[in-house]
Amino acid sequence: MSAVAQPAPILRYRTAAEMIAAHPAPTEHYEAHGAILLEDSGLEFDEAFVHRLVFPPDWKKVGTANDMTVPPIVYVKGAFRRTQNPLGRMIKEDWMLLKTYSELLRLEMGFKLKVADVLPRYRNVDWANCTFRFTRTENEGPHLDVFNKGRPLPRRRPRLKLFLNVDSKPRIWNVGPTLPDVLRCSGGALGASLPNDVNVLNHLINQSGHLAQCGYARVEIPPRGIVFANGATVVHQVLFGERMVALEGFAEWGREAPTEWDLLDSWIRDAGYGIEQVDPPPMPPQGADTESY
Ligand SMILES: [Fe+2]
Repeated sequence: MSAVAQPAPILRYRTAAEMIAAHPAPTEHYEAHGAILLEDSGLEFDEAFVHRLVFPPDWKKVGTANDMTVPPIVYVKGAFRRTQNPLGRMIKEDWMLLKTYSELLRLEMGFKLKVADVLPRYRNVDWANCTFRFTRTENEGPHLDVFNKGRPLPRRRPRLKLFLNVDSKPRIWNVGPTLPDVLRCSGGALGASLPNDVNVLNHLINQSGHLAQCGYARVEIPPRGIVFANGATVVHQVLFGERMVALEGFAEWGREAPTEWDLLDSWIRDAGYGIEQVDPPPMPPQGADTESY
């Protein structure tokens, strides 16, 4: 019988100053597919206001890629006009629209500046989507993040992924094992050979039912707390949460630490599986950054 895959190691820091002082340990831990909990990021925003915001369920993955933080009102030819910012379709009153926009923009900018402080090697990260998940989530299934419905991905740069709790209550997560530990402990249950594309493989693992047999650590993310974890290589599960900002970026090529894309062949081989070669698509397909899980 194979061993149960144990949860990824979790480093904890109480404050941003404590995390900055520990540099470069947090960066190295993140890049080794560990999880980090920064209990109080110190990010400032209008908490009384943000704690009341609720977005419709189908806005769960809507963010800056959908123009949520472009100015919602512009001055054109002597008149104020609403722009394509989707908040403008949801909110009638201009004052409420501008207040909501200003708080989201403040969260996005404050979050990005905070990352430059606590993970200085990611100062030049190429930011992708920043989503405002102001939708109640409960008892989500355990998963590895999958994009574009599990199709092969062209974008294979190191991924930075962060989750900020902007609710008044703790956000409750289960942190599961790393992708290599899932493979190692699966005892051959995933098939004879496995696809060597992280996205395709994660989709297969999520569908296999195998994650239900892994070990999990319950983590409470306090209000203003941040979790740093590469969702594509650390199994995770939201047990409860109402308001979260998720930020994603890609580091430059040629960094010292190998990425999951560099290591995947050896992870598959070390777990006793054969390798099924997956050729990357030549161009990023439409929606390649859209999270499916
Ligand atoms: Fe996820």
